[in-house]
Amino acid sequence: MKFKKLAALALSMALAASMLMGCGGSSSKDTAESDTQAAGNETAAFTTVNDGVLTMATNAQFPPYEFYDGSNIVGIDAEIAKAVADKLGLELKIEDMEFNSIIGSVQSGKVDMGLAGMTVTEERKQSVNFTESYATGIQSIIVKEGSDIKTVDDLTGKKIGVQLSTTGDIYATDDYGEENVEKYNKGADAVQALITDKVDCVIIDNQPAKAFVADNEGLKILDTEYTTEEYAACLSKDNEALLKAVDGAIKELKEDGTIQSILDKYIVAD
Ligand code: ARG
Repeated sequence: MKFKKLAALALSMALAASMLMGCGGSSSKDTAESDTQAAGNETAAFTTVNDGVLTMATNAQFPPYEFYDGSNIVGIDAEIAKAVADKLGLELKIEDMEFNSIIGSVQSGKVDMGLAGMTVTEERKQSVNFTESYATGIQSIIVKEGSDIKTVDDLTGKKIGVQLSTTGDIYATDDYGEENVEKYNKGADAVQALITDKVDCVIIDNQPAKAFVADNEGLKILDTEYTTEEYAACLSKDNEALLKAVDGAIKELKEDGTIQSILDKYIVAD
């Protein structure tokens, strides 16, 4: 079957790549690919939750990284994941969930990877493995036009809106205290709270910040940045082989310019 052959080819390439990287992937037994006799006796260098499928967890409330176009989830992460899946000979399946649930789903083996504009942090590294970074994010501050918040220094004592469990939440809570941070399941809900004066500002990643400001009158992003961070895919600590395969694919997609062209498609230079 065509798919199987392609899959086996991609797998053998992934295996060769992992051997080139000097990490001679251990092969595992229980995948559909391992019964691919027609294509030779390559065994899969990695396993996935569902054979032949790369299952990705995301939170599709984060334009331009992931958002709905009708009933489809589109955006930078969706396209990168598709390119990674293609390279590995897998079909892509995207599962939308709360941002707060992504790491747990990866850890418990419900999904293969999280790709959600997720920032690499030391704390998250205790729970999951990260690939190399594919993009940079900045935590920016959204305020209403005319706000007396002009820089980061004006945040003390203000009500800050964030998306639950994001780095904006973690850093704001650390810096300004739990009592000053209002946590919402969606970034858009935090922005609604700003519009209706329930919070004085929103701390969120710069690209979604731009999208939210473009969609709503009377908001602006402060010139001062809160933090700069790196986005990467996260995978289970129990699936080292898949981590290597996905990481290898991301490296190649960076090197051949694919990731840059996906970023350029969605991010318009200021
Ligand atoms: N970069 C931030 C973080 O890692 C926010 C990511 C939110 N992503 C999303 N798809 N809602 O915490």
